[in-house]
Parts: sequence; C-alpha cells; structure tokens
Amino acid sequence: MKIAELETERLLLRQWKEQDFPVFAKLNSDLEVMEYFPKPLNREESDAIAQMCESFILERGWGFWATEIKESGKFIGFVGLHTPKATLPISPCVEIGWRLLKNYWGKGYASEAAREALKYSFEILRLNEVVSFTTVSNVRSQAVMERLGLRNTHQNFEHPDLPKGHALSEHVLYKITKSEWQKNGL
Ligand SMILES: CC(C)(COP(=O)(O)OP(=O)(O)OC[C@H]1O[C@@H](n2cnc3c(N)ncnc32)[C@H](O)[C@@H]1OP(=O)(O)O)[C@@H](O)C(=O)NCCC(=O)NCCS
Repeated sequence: MKIAELETERLLLRQWKEQDFPVFAKLNSDLEVMEYFPKPLNREESDAIAQMCESFILERGWGFWATEIKESGKFIGFVGLHTPKATLPISPCVEIGWRLLKNYWGKGYASEAAREALKYSFEILRLNEVVSFTTVSNVRSQAVMERLGLRNTHQNFEHPDLPKGHALSEHVLYKITKSEWQKNGL
C-alpha cells in the first residue's frame, strides 16, 4: 500500500512517527484541547489513538495524518480523513477531522491542512461526499468546517459513544458533496 503524503504551503501531512507519540499525549492531556471530549486522555489512551491512526494509514494509504510544520519539522497534531468506528446515522461515511496542540491554534493550520485533505478525498479517492461532526458547543471546529465549504445539514444526532443526555452527546452534522466542492473552487 502506497502511503499518501500531502503537502501545503506550510505543512506536511504524513505517516506517524514514534517521536510524535509523546507530543500527541501532551496534546490529549490538555484540558483546553479536550474541552469538547468526555475527558482528557492518559499516555496509554493517547498512544492507542496514535497507533490506530498509524495502522489505518498503513492499511489504506490515507487517514488522520500526523501534521508537521515544514519549516521547523515540528509535529502539531493530526488532520485528515477517517471512517468513524461508531455506528452513526450517516454510516458508512468518510469524515474530515482535526486536533492540534493549543500553541498552533489561530494560525490557519487546521484549515490549510484540511483543504488539502478534502482535495485528496475528491480527486484521488473519488468520494462523492465528505462529512464532519462535532459536539454542538464546539464552535471553533464548526468554523473550520465552514471555512472549508461544508454546510450544516441541521440533522443533529446523539453520538452513540456518549451516554444519552450527556452534555456533549448532541452533535452537529456538516457535509460537502463533490459537486459542491467543485463549485466552491476551494
Ligand atoms: C478545532 C481546531 C483544529 C481549530 O483550530 P483553529 O486554529 O481555530 O483553526 P484554523 O486553522 O482554521 O485557524 C483559523 C484561525 O487562524 C487565524 N489565522 C492566522 N493566520 C492565518 C493564516 N495565515 N491563514 C488563515 N488563518 C489564519 C484565523 O484568523 C482564525 O482565527 P480566529 O479563530 O481568531 O478566527 C482547534 O481548535 C483544535 O484542535 N481543537 C481541539 C480539538 C477539537 O476540538 N477537534 C475537533 C473535534 S470534532
């Protein structure tokens, strides 16, 4: 399986490396980064996600890529595409997602990387549609979705991995089709 690497003006989206794991664990233990997740993660839980991302990329050639700044070589988190494991009302689907170290927010990195991932999903994977979802209160993530041209379907759903009635369980669902993406010229 050939592993895809994506490049943007400032960033490289690549396969995970062992050195990324401790930095990713720091990211996942940060209360601000994890504000919209049920709880921060410990090293073991964080490594399991990094490992899952790495294996997914190994098997398919694409996924939630480790993202680094080209100029410094610094790992800043992940951006990319994934097939959610949980059974969602929209499954099967390919989602676009992101999680960056707090120091690297507010610089346009998530949108820059995700724009390239979206291009890959339509031009190389030839998907017809890409979705994204997050808890209702995560407006920062929704702003990235909107910058990319995804639209709110207003088909909110309860995430099956969270207990019913949990403060974070209601999720918004955003989508973009290939023809919408082509029309936007993004
Ligand atoms: C969601 C998340 C990736 C968004 O990061 P972000 O940095 O706000 O998103 P972008 O990369 O689109 O950056 C946009 C911001 O960078 C600013 N910016 C600065 N330089 C820029 C540049 N050269 N180009 C574009 N934007 C730039 C924009 O003005 C905007 O600022 P604003 O937030 O004050 O409006 C980040 O908050 C995060 O990792 N959150 C925790 C994990 C999470 O919730 N993930 C989603 C779960 S579903």
